Amino acid sequence: MSRIPIGIVVNGVTGRMGYRQHLVRSLLAIREQGGLQTANGDRIWPEPVLVGRSETKLSEIAARHGLSDWSTDLDAALARGDVQVYFDAQVTQQREKAIRAAIEAGKHVYTEKPLAEDLGSAVDLARAARQAGIKHGVVQDKLFLPGLRKLKRLVEGGFFGQLLSVRGEFGYWVFEGDWQEAQRPSWNYRLADGGGIVSDMFPHWQYVLEQIFAPVRSVQATIATHIPTRVDESGVPYEATADDAAYAVFELDGGIIAQINSSWTVRVYRDELVEFQVDGTHGSAVAGLRDCRIQHRAGTPRPVWNPDQPATERFRDQWQLVPDNEDFDNGFKVQWEAYLRHVVEDTPFPWDFAAGARGVQLAELALRSAQERCRIEVAELDL
Ligand SMILES: NC(=O)c1ccc[n+]([C@@H]2O[C@H](COP(=O)([O-])OP(=O)(O)OC[C@H]3O[C@@H](n4cnc5c(N)ncnc54)[C@H](O)[C@@H]3O)[C@@H](O)[C@H]2O)c1
Repeated sequence: MSRIPIGIVVNGVTGRMGYRQHLVRSLLAIREQGGLQTANGDRIWPEPVLVGRSETKLSEIAARHGLSDWSTDLDAALARGDVQVYFDAQVTQQREKAIRAAIEAGKHVYTEKPLAEDLGSAVDLARAARQAGIKHGVVQDKLFLPGLRKLKRLVEGGFFGQLLSVRGEFGYWVFEGDWQEAQRPSWNYRLADGGGIVSDMFPHWQYVLEQIFAPVRSVQATIATHIPTRVDESGVPYEATADDAAYAVFELDGGIIAQINSSWTVRVYRDELVEFQVDGTHGSAVAGLRDCRIQHRAGTPRPVWNPDQPATERFRDQWQLVPDNEDFDNGFKVQWEAYLRHVVEDTPFPWDFAAGARGVQLAELALRSAQERCRIEVAELDL
């Protein structure tokens, strides 16, 4: 059985996502497990080519992980015959140009979300990728979180009966950067640099809603910049021009109503940083990143509203934990493995640029809805 080396340009590898989730937790983890076994017993072996702007940072990362291939010259990396895949984890604004160059160089492309800054560009990229006949994909990591996979299992098993509503609560406090360092990059808070919580999170909500429950048919959002001034990585105050919270209602196929709050200005009083409550005629579930709890209609209590009395029941105790029933690997890695099999073995990979474009579309429509203070229908994309 032979090893199948796959040269992968990892652009933006010095960033939070590029380094931790994609290089270390996915590509290097695949190597540590001895590669990725194909149907005929061969082993797909990622060969990362680290690309970025800083020689110092790239050489330091390479040395730390025993890698030798790095470059600050993207075009040269894309011209290499032993590179088959271009992966992009740069700041969103730099993405479109680089992906275009990769498509023109005939490489397969996998990218972080959002696919592009606006819908027009995302659609153009989806068409260009299709015309070039390359294999394309967009990160949709939340689908591979244990909590959400359990939710999907419940939907597929018919647990909910008729689905009624989904309520999502996402967020945590991101420090302003003055008396405590911010735990997210400052570009996230500047509109001109591609920031904003809607652009960041709504591509995730689009695929989570569509693929676990039903396609999104309309959106109505209210956004805010609650913290107007922040302090950047060098200690310099800047104006936060991008939205740091979004409060949205979505209508899904089948009359399901989804409501998701997304905020970097909320303190956590939940079990996890994101939680979805799903209510159906036959049962309800609350899922976080890892855990999922259910309450069947047969086990539903009968609370009676009486503010004169202290609560008579411990409502949280009336839910039942959904068992794991399988081993859950890192979500980014699971999707990388699916993408690499798609490239090498031509297995199906539904999370393509068309799916990525739908995520960009929802973010764009949500921002428009907020500006125009109205509900907006989500049209089918003509790709
Ligand atoms: N899937 C997820 O859950 C998830 C989570 C966070 C971020 N993201 C996405 O990943 C991408 C990177 O986000 P991040 O949080 O890792 O950001 P980051 O700021 O930590 O990293 C950005 C990377 O882009 C590089 N870069 C290239 N050109 C640049 C330029 N002109 N200015 C600044 N940096 C430049 C930086 O050197 C760095 O390597 C974004 O597109 C973001 O939307 C995805």
